[in-house]
Formats: sequence, C-alpha cells, structure tokens
Amino acid sequence: MKPDKGKTTMRLKNTIIAIFLALLVTSAPLHSEEGIASLNLMPVPKSVMLGSGKFRLTPSFAVAAKKDVGKRLYAAASRTLRRLSDRTGLFFLQDFVTSRSNPDSASMLIDCRRKGNVVLGEDESYSLTITPGKVELSSETDLGALRGFETLLQLLSIDDEGYYLPAVTINDEPRFLWRGLMIDVSRHFMSVEVIKRNLDGMAALKMNVFHWHLSDDQGVRVESKKFPKLQELCSDGFYYTQAQIKEVLAYAEDRGIRVIPEFDLPGHSTAWFAAFPGLASAPGPYTIERHWGIFDPTFNPTIEATYRFLDRFLGEMAFLFPDEYLHIGGDENNGKQWSANKQIQAFMKKHRIADNHALQAYFNNRLLKILTKHGKKMIGWDEILHPQMPTTIVIQSWRGPKGLFEAARRGYKAILSNGYYIDLIQSAEFHYLNDPLPADSVLTEEAKKNILGGEATSWAELVTPETIDSRIWPRTAAIAERFWSPGNVRDVDDMYRRLDVISFRLEELGLTHAKNYDMMLRRLTNNADIIALKTFIDVIEPVKIYKRHSQGVTYTQFSPLTRAVDAARPESKTARLFGKLVDRFVKKKDGASLGEIKAHLTVWKENDAKLRDIIHRSPILWEMATMSKDLADISAIALEAAAMIETGKKAEQAWVDDKLAILEKAKLPGGQAELMVVSAIQQLVSAAGGK
Ligand code: ACM
Repeated sequence: MKPDKGKTTMRLKNTIIAIFLALLVTSAPLHSEEGIASLNLMPVPKSVMLGSGKFRLTPSFAVAAKKDVGKRLYAAASRTLRRLSDRTGLFFLQDFVTSRSNPDSASMLIDCRRKGNVVLGEDESYSLTITPGKVELSSETDLGALRGFETLLQLLSIDDEGYYLPAVTINDEPRFLWRGLMIDVSRHFMSVEVIKRNLDGMAALKMNVFHWHLSDDQGVRVESKKFPKLQELCSDGFYYTQAQIKEVLAYAEDRGIRVIPEFDLPGHSTAWFAAFPGLASAPGPYTIERHWGIFDPTFNPTIEATYRFLDRFLGEMAFLFPDEYLHIGGDENNGKQWSANKQIQAFMKKHRIADNHALQAYFNNRLLKILTKHGKKMIGWDEILHPQMPTTIVIQSWRGPKGLFEAARRGYKAILSNGYYIDLIQSAEFHYLNDPLPADSVLTEEAKKNILGGEATSWAELVTPETIDSRIWPRTAAIAERFWSPGNVRDVDDMYRRLDVISFRLEELGLTHAKNYDMMLRRLTNNADIIALKTFIDVIEPVKIYKRHSQGVTYTQFSPLTRAVDAARPESKTARLFGKLVDRFVKKKDGASLGEIKAHLTVWKENDAKLRDIIHRSPILWEMATMSKDLADISAIALEAAAMIETGKKAEQAWVDDKLAILEKAKLPGGQAELMVVSAIQQLVSAAGGK
C-alpha cells in the first residue's frame, strides 16, 4: 500500500517534534552538555540524562529495599543516610535502613536482585532514576547499589530553597573490572585506621581492589601463627594481628572491595631473613633493612627448606585472605646472591637453567604449585612474565605499558600500574591521561580482553600515616575515573573542576589529606601564625620522580617526614591556576586575567617580608629561606613584565635575558621542593619582550 503523502508529512513532523522534545528533556552524556556539566560526578557515569525538576530532601526522606539481599546493602544504605544527614543538617526520621523498612512509604526505593560476590568480574552496574517525587536505584547485585549510593551522594545539590537531588536518569557500569589501589605498609607501617579510611575513599570512587603490599626489605607486617618469629623479629612490632586483618577484610567486603595480599618474593625480602637466615641465598646474619633501594638478600630457590616454609606460610595466608588471587611480588631481584652462590650455580647447571630470570621462573613455578594447592591464583609484577609461566597468572605491569601489551598479546591477563605511581608526585593530569587501553591501541580485540584494568601504587618510602592520604588523594580519584568511565571522558579541565569537589567530599570519610596540612604548617612555625607560610607552601611542590633520594639527603625508615616538602601538596592548585591565567592573558591580553595575575604577584612579592622572621625562628624552615626570597624576587620581575605588557612598552632584549637567567635559577630545588610558578613568570617575561 502506498502511503498517503499528507499522512507521511504529518508523521514526519510528529517524529521531528518528538525527537526535539526528547532532546530537550533528556540531553546527552554528562561531559558535553551544559546543564549536566554543573554536576560533580566522579567517575563520570556511562550515561546521564537530565530530567526536569528536583527531588527535595526533607526530614521525611526514607529509604527501603524491595528485596532483602543481605545486611551489606542495608549497612551501606544506612551509611548513605547518615552522610546525607550530616551534610544537610536534616534530622531524618529514619534511623537505619533494614529489612523492616517499608518500601511502600519510602521516598527512595532500592531494587536489587541479588547479593553480589566480591570477586573479579562481578556485576557492578546500576541505574539511578530521580524524579521530583521519587528516587529509584536498581541493580543486579548489591555491589551495583553500593556504587549507585556514591553517585547519589555526589548528586546532592543546593539552591535557594535548600538541598535537593536533580532529576536525572543514570545508567552506569565500569569500563574495567580491576580498579585498584596498592598501599605499601612495609616501608612505613600504616595502622588499621589508615587502611580503613582509605578503603572508604576507594569505595567513594568506585574502586574495587585493595592490594596490600605486606612485606618488603623493611618489614613483614602479618602475624603468623605457624611462624611467630616472623612478627617477633621481622616487623619491629609493627604488624597486623590476624584479628586485625579479618577486621580489614570484613570492612573491605562491606564496601565491595577485594583485598589482595602481596608477599614480595624472592627479592625485596631482607626482613624475612632476620628470623630465617637459612632461607637466604647467602649466609647471615641479617637485620631488617632501614634504607631504601634494591638490596641483595633473596630467597634461595634451590633448597627444599624454602618451599616447605613458603608452603606452610602461604597456606596460612591463603586461608586467611579469601580472594582468589595472591600476589607474589617478583620485582627487582638483582640476582647478586644467586650469581655469587656456588651451590646455586651448580643447581642451575645440573637442571640446565640458563640464567637468573629462568631460575626465578623455576621458583615462580614452584610457588604456583603451592598457590594452586591452596586454591589461589598467582599475580605478580611484570618480571614474572617468562615463557615457562602458564597464562593462568596475572601480570601487573609497572616498568612500562609495553609489558602490559606484551603480556596481553601472549594471552596473559594483565593490569597496568606504570603511569599510576602516585609516589612519584606527578600531576593528576598525567595519571588521568594514562590509559590501560588507549584509543590507538594496536592490540587485537582478543588481546584487549586480557587487560583487566589497573592499580594506583602508593609506595611508602616517603610517607607516614600523617601524610599518606595527601599522597593518595585526591589524585587517585582521577585514576579511579580512568578505570571506571568510558575511555573518551578525557576533559582535563573538567576533571580538575570535579576533583576539587571530590577532594573536599572525601574529608567526610575521615581522610586527612586536607586537614593535616594546617596542622603540619603549625608544627613548622612552632605554632606561630601560618598564613604567610601557607601562601608560600601553596606554590611549591616536592621534587618529582625519585629525586628526593639523590639530593644529598639519605632517607631511612626513621627519617623525619615533617619538613616543608612533606607539607607541600603533590600538585599545587594555586600554581596550576596561575599558569592557566598567564596562558590566557598572554594569548588574549584581557584585563580581567591581568588583574588576577597582579593580585597574586603582589601577595607573593610581599610574602617573604612576612615569612622571613617566622623562618628565622623555626630552624626546620631554614632550608626554605632562599626559595621564599626567590618567590618575592621573581614576583617583582613578573609585575614589571605585566606593567610593560599592559602599557604596550616592549622590554629590551637585555632585560629579558637578564630576568630569564634569574628565573632559571629560581627553578632549582630548595629543601627538596620546587617553586611551581616560575614557568608562568618566564612566559610573562618573554611576552614582555614581544615573544
Ligand atoms: C616496583 O615498583 N618495584 C614494583
């Protein structure tokens, strides 16, 4: 039948109107639309559609679940209720969310089909629909609901009438199954409290793997009932009892986070030999290592005593830790003890083991048998990749993304940590743009499936319980977004905008990254006024990568980590924003930017005069005196440059050269920190010279 022309036009018109209306009501993904851009969601969900209207939070806000899938869901719902109450000051009538909470009268309904298993690959998807009259959270598992609660908390907004949740429909699921944070508790021990608050931070960012680096040269941190000498002689008394470990495991399980213990073998193992020297590859005695680096002591892979010990110890740990994976380390074995040991050399000859890497593969295969016997799968750092290792092991790539792709190509499951070393004090932007599976990846579709995700790594040579949160957060939130959100979510400015909000929200979980700053500054000034010191430390950062170890300072496990460099943030927000201002001004020559730039420069120029006396009276700050003066001097230069640009007077080349030389010197580290506004000022000076 031929359609009648009039009807077709009519139908077409209706379709166009319908599409137009649909666009008006729903709009597109978060990162591109204005209305949605005001949301502060991190990680960005897979799909966000704004609705119209607002759900008002009132004391009668009440939460219930349609189906009882277990206490984890109720506990998380109750925590959500408390956090909403604490933020808003609203006295909710509901105390706890329980199986007795009535779904018919609830303003927020959770529709969750089953209890999830905290294992690799579990469904964590959820959808959240908010209308003016109702909040509905639905998911396959309670783990999905937990992720949804965090999104809901991030949606809380404020207007003239009070607190509300914007009408929205969110459908969300993670891009990667493995979204981890490794915390090293060997170099500096971290209490259960530190671990718990970081687990809360992880949960807030939808991360799901806590990799617990429990042993290294500087300490073995678990209680062993089979080998009590381990905690007695290898930990300085800083270890977790098995009861404490169970407490952490339960806490993580309650937040949908897997816990993977790492025992770093066969290298990075000096501490073990303080109790068991006979297992090392050279005669003892041994003491716990106090310095940082790569050391020689290594398990002897050629004696049966090693495997008898590891069988019993790992058996005990396999029973304690429920996750199907156990991390055996495997990194940075320098092989020196192996090469120098005649008995080991003879063993290699007899068994036709070609080199130390092959000997480590032999060791790893023996370990694999032990782990398999105890029901565990093996994961290790990328050094464990060897043709003799089966593809059932998981490779954690840290030396470069190449190792990740190589492993994936060869059929191994792999995770990426290279580029996520937060102890290297790099920017959130750097980590954010690092992708386990970049858009231009040349891997086959099959190989891509082997890439499970990644982990941020918090190595602990230069952190204490007081500073560790500030080295993890907020930058790890940007990494968490990389692991969860669609790969095309890469707007750096928007990431920073949201990171600020998330950073402040993380404090409600007890994280100390922000609040310890003032406390550390007070200690530095001996409780004098901290305003001038803060102005200064706000624009410095610790030196990057491993430079702190190569500037004439030898750090040990007992070195103070309380200096200006430790108080300084890994990434200076003030310096980053100042850099952007200068960038904009140099391009647009706009008065608004110039005004802001001059305001900053004037404060910095006058700051040294205020700080000098405080530094003088605080010997711990003496190492910063030169840099504080530098900040004043270069700010004066920048003000001159700004005035020339403003008045259109071109600077003489000799002036430009002279000032650029001064600026180059101001880039030199002081007290192991760097002044982060120098490049922007160089840009101003060059612009004054007409460049
Ligand atoms: C490592 O950073 N040595 C794994």
